[in-house]
Amino acid sequence: MSFVGDAHVRFIRKLNEKKETFEYVATEHLRMSGLYWGLCALDIMGTPLSQEEIDGFVQWILSCQNEDAGFGGSPGHDSHLLYTLSAIQLLAILGHLEDLHNPERVAQYVAALQHPDGSFGGDRWGEIDTRFTYCAACCLGLLHHLELINVDQAVEFLRRCMNIDGGFGSCPGAESHGGQIFCCVGALAIFNRLDALDQDLLGWWLAERQTDLGGLNGRPEKEPDVCYSWWNLTALAIMDRVPWIDPDALAGFILACQDREEGGISDRPEDEADVYHTFFGIAGLSLLGKCDLPNKINPVYAMTERVLARYHVDPAPHKKPRTPGPGSRPDQAAPPPPPSS
Ligand code: FPP
Ligand code: ZN
Repeated sequence: MSFVGDAHVRFIRKLNEKKETFEYVATEHLRMSGLYWGLCALDIMGTPLSQEEIDGFVQWILSCQNEDAGFGGSPGHDSHLLYTLSAIQLLAILGHLEDLHNPERVAQYVAALQHPDGSFGGDRWGEIDTRFTYCAACCLGLLHHLELINVDQAVEFLRRCMNIDGGFGSCPGAESHGGQIFCCVGALAIFNRLDALDQDLLGWWLAERQTDLGGLNGRPEKEPDVCYSWWNLTALAIMDRVPWIDPDALAGFILACQDREEGGISDRPEDEADVYHTFFGIAGLSLLGKCDLPNKINPVYAMTERVLARYHVDPAPHKKPRTPGPGSRPDQAAPPPPPSS
């Protein structure tokens, strides 16, 4: 089955015009993330935006920033890590990260959400979730300010969220779930701490998520869903284990979820398309290297490699040689300096 990219571009562009619909009003609180899904999908497909569109989006994004330096999902909404990350990603995609007012204060807003046990709250009310550890890691990685948080404690918290199946849940003791696994593996990659994983065990659990239809599910016994072509596949990609699944079967499943007339991708074949599954379907195809998509998505930062290059962000932080910190085991110590003559 072929990829109907032109229809998807039309589908995404139309979403911004549907301002009178119930759906538009009902999703106001998460508009920032909706815009990120749409614009990142257009970026993967290499669709150019006009200068007028870019300026309009940048102005709208900046209008969602609050006094505390964080961003809400729409103007006038309270700050949250989910939308602060989407805002930073969007400004970078649009080539306007330079317009972020006082990036140090934004980074400090993010860092201040870390709790003494290493976890992160999503906002000042403090709900804890491994999603927020990923958001913080990604924001600070993009802004080059990881030094503001206690990375060892953050890793320790993630270790406490690891289950005996090698996967991760939203908090200690919670069931393993593909979405949370992306968050934990992505954060550990940004921290260059993949040593905290049992990569073979987790790789097996993820590979077992492929169903007879070719699509991946997020937990055992669940239906396949296009978005897990992102959540699960990124973790496999970061651990260099994509060949553990059947990539052709997965691509076939994603392509079967396209609305070939109206554009967009749904969670399962024959369901209604939405921008969330459209983005994750296209991102999954990009990760699989299918359909000749021009701009490759990066599995760690969930943005295209070209955007990361523009802002000098290492696309594979987990592959850098590690300099051991204080308290490292002797077998991880740096080699002694060469003898002086
Ligand atoms: C499942 O969503 C997904 C998760 C729990 C992970 C969400 C991760 C983030 C919000 C971090 C930021 C992500 C990116 C890509 C930058 P769901 O339960 O809503 O999905 P479903 O109902 O369709 O299975
Ligand atoms: Zn889904």
